[in-house]
Order: sequence, then C-alpha cells, then structure tokens
Amino acid sequence: MHLRFLTAGESHGPALTSIIEGMPAGVPVVVEQIDTHLARRQRGYGRGGRMKIETDRAQISAGVRHGKTIGSPITLTVMNRDFESWQDVMSVEPVAPYAPDTPKRRPIEVPRPGHVDYAGGIKYRIEDMRNILERASARETTMRVASGALARRLLEECGIFMGSHVVEIGGISVDQSTLVGRFPSAQELNAHADSSEVRCLDKAAEAAMIQRIDEARDNGDTVGGVFEVIVDGLPVGLGSHVHWDRKLDGRLAGALMSIHAMKGVEIGLGFEAARRFGSQVHDAFEVGSPLARPTNNAGGLEGGVTNGEPLVCRVAMKPISTLMKALPSVNITTGQATAAHVERSDYCAVPAAGVVGEAMVAIVLADALLEKFGGDSLEEIQESLRNHRAYAAKVAR
Ligand SMILES: Cc1cc2nc3c(=O)[nH]c(=O)nc-3n(C[C@H](O)[C@H](O)[C@H](O)COP(=O)(O)O)c2cc1C
Repeated sequence: MHLRFLTAGESHGPALTSIIEGMPAGVPVVVEQIDTHLARRQRGYGRGGRMKIETDRAQISAGVRHGKTIGSPITLTVMNRDFESWQDVMSVEPVAPYAPDTPKRRPIEVPRPGHVDYAGGIKYRIEDMRNILERASARETTMRVASGALARRLLEECGIFMGSHVVEIGGISVDQSTLVGRFPSAQELNAHADSSEVRCLDKAAEAAMIQRIDEARDNGDTVGGVFEVIVDGLPVGLGSHVHWDRKLDGRLAGALMSIHAMKGVEIGLGFEAARRFGSQVHDAFEVGSPLARPTNNAGGLEGGVTNGEPLVCRVAMKPISTLMKALPSVNITTGQATAAHVERSDYCAVPAAGVVGEAMVAIVLADALLEKFGGDSLEEIQESLRNHRAYAAKVAR
C-alpha cells in the first residue's frame, strides 16, 4: 500500500484524529480545502441534532509546511464540540459508578437491531455497549473525509476530479434520462449536487425524496438510498489484472463497503449488466487518439484496470439503524424483552454518505496513482504521468 491512513476517536470523545502516510512532497494544501469537504459531510436533509452542534474544522499538526506537504506523515485533528456535554460519560479518567443522579452514564444494555452493539459487546466482553457504539458511530467518517481531502488534492494536481450525487432515497429514484448530457464533467457535479438538500440533480425526484424522509421522521422511522461517485481525468492503467488484491474494482468496492451502513457497490452498469446480452453491455472501440468509446457501461474499469473512461461507482446504503420508534430488543443484563436503546440520530444520511464515498474513492485512487507513477515528490509523479499519457495517446495512431 502506497497511501494509507488510520483514524482514532470516539463519537462523543474529546477529538477525532487521523494519520495519513505516503503523501508525496510538494502537494499544495490549505486547511480550508479540508474544511470545505467536512462541511459538505455535515449537511443534508434528514440529519439529527448532532450536526447542528458541530461545525467541523480540521487542524493540521504535522506533515505540511508553508502550504505544501513535505513527504512526512500528516496528522489531522477535529475537535468534538459536543464533548463539553459528555465529559463525565466519556471521561478518560475513572469515574464513580453509575447512579440514578447521573442518568447519561447509565450503561447501555439493550442493543439496537442493525447496529454492532450486540455483536461488539459479546466480542469485546463489554457490558456497557456505549464502549462499542462510540467507535462504531459514523462520526468516524469525519476523518475519512478529512484524509480523503488530502488524497483528493494530489489527484487534482494530476488532473483527476470527482463528484457524487444521490440517485435514490427510500425507494424514490431519479429519472436518469433527465440527467444525460447535462453534467459533462465530474468537476461540475458537486456544484449542482451540493445546491440540493438531498444532493439530487432531478428536481421532481428531490421533492419526492424530501417527502419520503419527512414520512420516515414522522413515523419514528428511517430511510436509506443509493449514491453515485463519478471520477474524470483518470489515466489508462491504474490497478492491475494480475492479482486479486491489485484489481482496482475490488479495492474500490472494499473501501466503499467499509463505510458505515453500505450494503452494496456497483461499477458501471453493475447488476443491470447481468440481465442483458453481451452486445448490449460491452463498450465498442472507435478510432481515435486515445481510442474512443461511445458508451461507458463498464464504468471506467475493465479487468480491474482503469480504461481512461470516467469511473462510475454506485453505492447502496441501508436505512439508519437507530429508530425513534424503537424495534423490539432484549436487555442483555436482565434478559427481559424491551424496546431497543434510542439516542439522538439521523433519519436519513444518504446525501452525507456520498461525500464519504468520494473520500474513500479518492484514497484508493491516490494509492493506485502512487503505485503506478511512484515518486517522492508531486513533480516526479506529474512527469511520469505526462509521459504515460503521451504514450497512451500514440497507441493506434
Ligand atoms: C454519514 C453517515 C451517518 C450515519 N448516521 C447514523 C445515525 O445518526 N444513527 C445511526 O444509528 N446510524 C447512523 N449511520 C449508520 C451506522 O453508523 C451503521 O449502520 C452502523 O455503524 C452499523 O454498521 P453497518 O450498517 O455497516 O453494519 C450513519 C452512517 C453514515 C455513513
């Protein structure tokens, strides 16, 4: 792995941190470029109260000097403002045992269906499932987005741009035919998507999605959906066909599936390809320099290698697991049937999930870029990339 990152931090703990290792020297970075994406992750119709409390700001404390990366590990921190009201519950120091006058510290003993409360509690032999849910929370995706913003800076300096948009919420889908030809580049995509509360490009579908989210909220319920990440400017040849773990489609699917609540990933036509004849799926070649493809059903990948067409990944998110109208559960200490634990929660987070999806795609692509074009500095990478693009343009001329 050429670019890797680790995150640490609990949802209501003092702070979230990440260390990004492998960034070449010379990549221009200012903290506002990270904060822009952190703010995008916090928006979206259907969020709970937490996102109104936090205004995430990144702090860079290593690896960047005078506005450029210097090749050493980069450390990012985002403070949790909400920690102020959780100091006692999330105290690092030992505290007195729970008593009725400290209700917030009451151990969580009733697992929420769909969350890792139960499985994690058993796995780590922890009776207060707060120890599990604090880290399992998608608050962790803050640091994925912050780390991804750095990977994205590297990609942008190499002419690679990405965006995402929501294509489905709670069973309401965009009419894809209304989008064809309207958004020629991934670079323009976010400007349009971010102006919609549900990050949807189809106005009719947007209204119906908002209505569906309201319906879920009013019923104490939640909804999921599907978002799409699109990347432009990729050179031919990232990833490799030679080993299972070097195939870029597998690496992207793994990274996207690792996001909280994601239950499926499609590339290009995805599952639809399985329903069609080969002649209706595979993208013909046409004379050109580089060779032209009139269609992009493959979604930019063939044999686990980028083919120069835009990368298109679609990701399915299940409905949020914390329901205000809690599902049946069992108290693991008393063995009594009762309603599942409830705490402040989103009822739809698909718009934000698209921003997290972009971050994970950026990290995988930056890693693949470094693998192919190596180099300790941005300048060396740009030089090899230029040579490679020139070579690809010469083929079949
Ligand atoms: C951006 C985002 C926000 C989320 N917000 C919540 C939330 O407020 N409440 C909740 O119960 N789950 C939320 N989730 C989903 C859970 O974190 C996730 O379902 C849970 O950790 C279990 O993991 P799994 O669904 O991958 O199996 C969110 C996910 C994402 C991507």
